[in-house]
Amino acid sequence: MTIHNLDIDNSVLNHFISEIRDVKIQQDSMRFRRNIERIGEILSYELSKSLSYENKEVITPLGSKNISVLADNLVLCSVLRAGLPLHQGILNYFDHVENAFISAFRKHSSPEKFEIKVEYLASPSLDGKTLILADPMLATGSSLVAVFEALKSLGKLKQIHLVSVIAAKEGIEFVQNHFPQDTHLWVATVDEKLNSKGYIVPGLGDAGDLAFGNKL
Ligand code: URA
Repeated sequence: MTIHNLDIDNSVLNHFISEIRDVKIQQDSMRFRRNIERIGEILSYELSKSLSYENKEVITPLGSKNISVLADNLVLCSVLRAGLPLHQGILNYFDHVENAFISAFRKHSSPEKFEIKVEYLASPSLDGKTLILADPMLATGSSLVAVFEALKSLGKLKQIHLVSVIAAKEGIEFVQNHFPQDTHLWVATVDEKLNSKGYIVPGLGDAGDLAFGNKL
């Protein structure tokens, strides 16, 4: 797996990351969603540099120009519900993609033990397609792996790009062991550890709750 951690260079991306982590700024859920969306846009731009391109002649009012344009058939799949603002950010740049949605939630048998349940999947065929799989928080990695298992039956993928906002080192290692070797992981920033409940530390808390409100 090739890991692209974008926070290693100073850029406005780090400003957006600081805002989504900040407990005071987190009170403003619209800003939280919009910042996740903006991070999705930046990750998309970087990811776009590793896609396939083909030459296209474009006719302008004054002449013509050969331009290399995206050649991949892309499917953008996001993990509900926290993935929705990230999905929108990626879609802002890759507006011609097909879309897929999948649910993955932690079913707890105790506060510290959980298994991932996938219950909803709406997707086009994935045969020959390039998959962008978006999940804002790569914590244990078990959601992404469960989702990937569910998507496998939908066709033979050409390439996979995982997109996350914050990834824990442990989660990165787990997905590295379960996704094909030529998978790319695009992440805005990497955190050191998980707590006993599988939350990223320092992380930002629960991305779904911060974007859409608390759940039962
Ligand atoms: N999901 C979240 O929203 N936050 C975490 O820290 C881990 C998983």
